Amino acid sequence: MFNFTFHNFTKVHFGEGQISQIQHDIPQSAKVLLVYGGGSIKNNGIYQQVTQALSAHQVVEFSGIEANPQYDTLMQGVALAKAQQVDYILAVGGGSVIDGCKFISAALKFDGQDPWDLMIQKAAVTAVVPMGVVLTLAATGSETNPATVVSRGEDKFGLFNPILRPQFAVLDPSVTLSLTDRQISNGVVDAFVHVIEQYLTYPVNAKVQDRFAEGLLLTLIEEGQKVISAEHKNDLEVRANLMFSATMALNGLIGTGVPHDWSTHMIGHELTAAYGIDHARSLSILLPSMLRERQQVKQAKLLQFAERVWNITDGTDDQKIAAAITKMEQFFKQLGAPICLSDANLDESHIPDIIQRLKGHGMTALGEDQMVTLDVVERILNRAL
Ligand code: NZQ
Ligand code: ZN
Repeated sequence: MFNFTFHNFTKVHFGEGQISQIQHDIPQSAKVLLVYGGGSIKNNGIYQQVTQALSAHQVVEFSGIEANPQYDTLMQGVALAKAQQVDYILAVGGGSVIDGCKFISAALKFDGQDPWDLMIQKAAVTAVVPMGVVLTLAATGSETNPATVVSRGEDKFGLFNPILRPQFAVLDPSVTLSLTDRQISNGVVDAFVHVIEQYLTYPVNAKVQDRFAEGLLLTLIEEGQKVISAEHKNDLEVRANLMFSATMALNGLIGTGVPHDWSTHMIGHELTAAYGIDHARSLSILLPSMLRERQQVKQAKLLQFAERVWNITDGTDDQKIAAAITKMEQFFKQLGAPICLSDANLDESHIPDIIQRLKGHGMTALGEDQMVTLDVVERILNRAL
């Protein structure tokens, strides 16, 4: 196991009715920027719960953050927050609203010319306006992690800094009941791939992280299959287990002291930015082909994945690995997620464009060993046709 320092300071309030807790976590004297997306929170009771909890606070609203948040939209939030002199931000939404708020919180304290410099690493984040989260979609883990992903036109970049972590996050599984089947499936797939990209690399004898990761994968498979069934569709216990899994998948814990491979995510971001494919669906398209192409490098962990997660013990090593990847594909299919480019109406004519985009963004040596070069990506995309 590698050396590590683990410090996740985000306070989590988990369970039904917990939104009311926010009144105690946001300082009474704070002027709060209440931020949300396209308005789903107004149709499912979340907005009422939040405004009731903040009835003793001074609140300014900013809405309209789109899926895959855009810089121009976020800068409108920055302008409003500056004009209103807000000193606390409350994100009420999924990964897009939360990431958008993280950017706004850093941009408000940025003293250079253009806050986009933060995203392209031309300037460092040194201070933020404190923020909290009411999570409405279990998927990204953004609610307790130090990452934000922001788009500007067709450029999509991630930024990581510990001070971007929210101060608190409310995880009430009942608020996820208003999600569409597609958004629910997307959440399961995204969380699953987050675990995979921190687990399925090479062994470093990190037993705790491995077994936590396997526990999360098993839970996502079990509860993911339930949540799409008529019988358990509105089962709050299923929603609760999925919600906590998604948070734990990317809160830093399973990724401490182990190698990471974010290549599927990095290529996926290009598919989203260029062709508007949902984040999670870009991952389900790429991951099976990524694992097949990288089977040699990942052999030991793929075997562990086959045996411990899919209970595959018969056959040669190659057969076990092939069976595990097929099982994973079947799971994605059950969830209604695409597993190849043609499922998303893309074909080989799109491959040069994807490669060019990765090159333009400097994504030319991805993976746990930096060996996912552009020619390897090309092979992966061809496998994924
Ligand atoms: O806009 P609203 O009205 O909120 O509607 C949203 C949106 O249309 C809707 N929704 C959310 N909660 C709902 C709901 N609809 C009904 N009932 C509810 N309770 O769902 C739609 C999608 O929301 P979005 O926030 O875009 O989804 P998600 O949470 O999957 O976030 C995706 C974004 O997060 C980034 C992705 O790249 C993408 O931009 N990621 C962020 C990460 C991070 N910060 O750590 C890691 C991830 O790998 C990912 O890259
Ligand atoms: Zn993701």
